[in-house]
Amino acid sequence: MNSDKKIAIWGTGSLCERYLEATQSLTQVVCFIDSNNAGEFKQKPVIVPAQIAQQDIDSIIICSTFIDEIVPVCLKSGFAAAQIKIAQARSLSTIPLVEYEEIDGIGLYYLPWKQQQEQIDFSLSGDIVFPDVYKEIAKSVAYVHVSAVEGDFAEFGTCTGYTASLIAHSLDYYSNYLSEFHSQHNIKPRELCLFDSFQGFPASTMEEDLASPHVASGAWGEGTAKGLSANALKQLCGQFLNEERINIYEGWYKDTLSTIEPERKFGFVHLDCDLYESTYDVLYHLFANNHVSEGAKLLFDNWYCNRASKAFGEQKAWQDIIQQFNIECTHIGMYAAVGHKVIIHSYSKK
Ligand SMILES: C[S@@+](CC[C@H](N)C(=O)[O-])C[C@H]1O[C@@H](n2cnc3c(N)ncnc32)[C@H](O)[C@@H]1O
Repeated sequence: MNSDKKIAIWGTGSLCERYLEATQSLTQVVCFIDSNNAGEFKQKPVIVPAQIAQQDIDSIIICSTFIDEIVPVCLKSGFAAAQIKIAQARSLSTIPLVEYEEIDGIGLYYLPWKQQQEQIDFSLSGDIVFPDVYKEIAKSVAYVHVSAVEGDFAEFGTCTGYTASLIAHSLDYYSNYLSEFHSQHNIKPRELCLFDSFQGFPASTMEEDLASPHVASGAWGEGTAKGLSANALKQLCGQFLNEERINIYEGWYKDTLSTIEPERKFGFVHLDCDLYESTYDVLYHLFANNHVSEGAKLLFDNWYCNRASKAFGEQKAWQDIIQQFNIECTHIGMYAAVGHKVIIHSYSKK
């Protein structure tokens, strides 16, 4: 189960039950921690958070989704980050917490993605996970909230649900943290809109894709990058964000884009559909139908793919779009290993 001798498990709910079921052992568990249910659970004592500093415990395993509230309590009670482990709802393995920092008084924890990558099956997409993906997504979600940019959150290209779940988690966190600020700005609860074929990439038909190194090599071939089903994606993201706030648009973009509700605006768009044609179709529809808010943040996950050539993929799609929509924007640098970030100020059709 764990090399630590004395473990406390924070949480006595369904995540804890699933964790115990998966690990099949209670021998190293000395107690459970729960704010509301002091007493006994699984024939072990349940203590309240205020008591943890007095316990003889080697490590705490957090079996709860309220990680942002729990981690600071553990740290303030004298536990080192390496003693705090988070049971992953997704994989039911635990990972030590190695990075924690506060930005403007907001506590953010960053998981050791490298280690997580070893424990979670990312083979579906072959994605390489970088720690700053989560930081960047969390900061972008914070930006949209703090700057009172209007609108919902969208991701085009969900595959494993990895980035979608990070967006869901950050969205829930900042919605709660800044709820009062939001009501001052009359901003309604933001929703998460997830778009994918759930069948992997389409067959490429346009020269901008066919001639690109990643398509020509077969890396972005038809049917590759097929990930979670729509239901599994909703379940995964639903662990972080109320399912009523998650909308899944299943199908090829050419069919689903027109089903976006006419009034819907996006303050954040994560473009992770890689191909020129897919990215162009998405951007064209969003700008032509006024779905992009003033101040919206666009994260392009694959901007510098294809040897960073401007002739292919997301870079080429962007070049073709800005001309048509007179887009005024600020380029704010790289995102993760091959991505790029842009903030939109204004646009209009030529
Ligand atoms: C690189 S993967 C996305 C990775 C994802 N963000 C993650 O965290 O695993 C690209 C995704 O874009 C989707 N996609 C690309 N073009 C599409 C199109 N025209 N219509 C629908 N889905 C598309 C693929 O199905 C695939 O799931």
